[in-house]
Amino acid sequence: MDLITLHGIEKTYQMGDISVPVLKGISLAIRQGELIALTGSSGSGKSTLMNILGCLDRPTAGEYWLDGQETSKLSSDERALLRNRKLGFVFQSFNLLARTSAIENVAMPLAYSAESLSEREARGRAAEMLGRVGLADRLGHLPSQLSGGQQQRVAIARALINHPPVLFADEPTGNLDSRTSEEVLQMFEQLNSEDGITIIMVTHDPKVAGHAKRVIRIEDGLIQGDGAVADSSPETPGGAA
Ligand SMILES: Nc1ncnc2c1ncn2[C@@H]1O[C@H](COP(=O)(O)OP(=O)(O)O)[C@@H](O)[C@H]1O
Ligand SMILES: [Mg+2]
Repeated sequence: MDLITLHGIEKTYQMGDISVPVLKGISLAIRQGELIALTGSSGSGKSTLMNILGCLDRPTAGEYWLDGQETSKLSSDERALLRNRKLGFVFQSFNLLARTSAIENVAMPLAYSAESLSEREARGRAAEMLGRVGLADRLGHLPSQLSGGQQQRVAIARALINHPPVLFADEPTGNLDSRTSEEVLQMFEQLNSEDGITIIMVTHDPKVAGHAKRVIRIEDGLIQGDGAVADSSPETPGGAA
């Protein structure tokens, strides 16, 4: 079964009397365990589509099935619940709480999850997740005491703390230099291959898209390309989907 199915998704923004059509009929299916780059030029509608996929916004028309549930008509409270249970988010600007340690940033979403964990269990789980992203020795550091790449890894650990099946990342390396970007992208590849997490990255950077197994290209609100990526790294044959 597909994890995500879109049927004829449209999004039109209303600016006073003017309708601004942004998504013009997007249909696609995504299976569990895919590593996808959603690309396209600036203004093509990537973030708008990502906001709908992430249940942050509703489409104007069309159906969005997520893990067997049709979501396009859910209330904002119902969407919030779904986001908390099924979706993780990573943003270009990391969005960490500044005066809060790495471990507390990562533990934060546990307070809103269905399970009620003790303080100690929550810290234990957050520490484990930080270990998973290579930051076992940075638990008490504040964001300002971490490099950009380390901050983004804290954000990834926080996004995954409730074990969502899907991770969305909107321009996740937009604020990172190329070496640190590589490090974060390798983290995504590892989480995808080892834990089977479905990852959807939004990017306008072909180098970032090169780390995906499938690239979906959107232009002017429509899908203009969708296909598996040939593995370009000569030393790792057989990596393509
Ligand atoms: N809230 C909004 N209200 C009106 N127009 C919007 C809104 N959000 C985005 N748009 C318009 O939709 C188009 C696509 O934007 P966006 O999805 O952010 O593109 P991308 O992420 O690919 O750069 C742009 O022309 C933008 O001006
Ligand atoms: Mg965008």
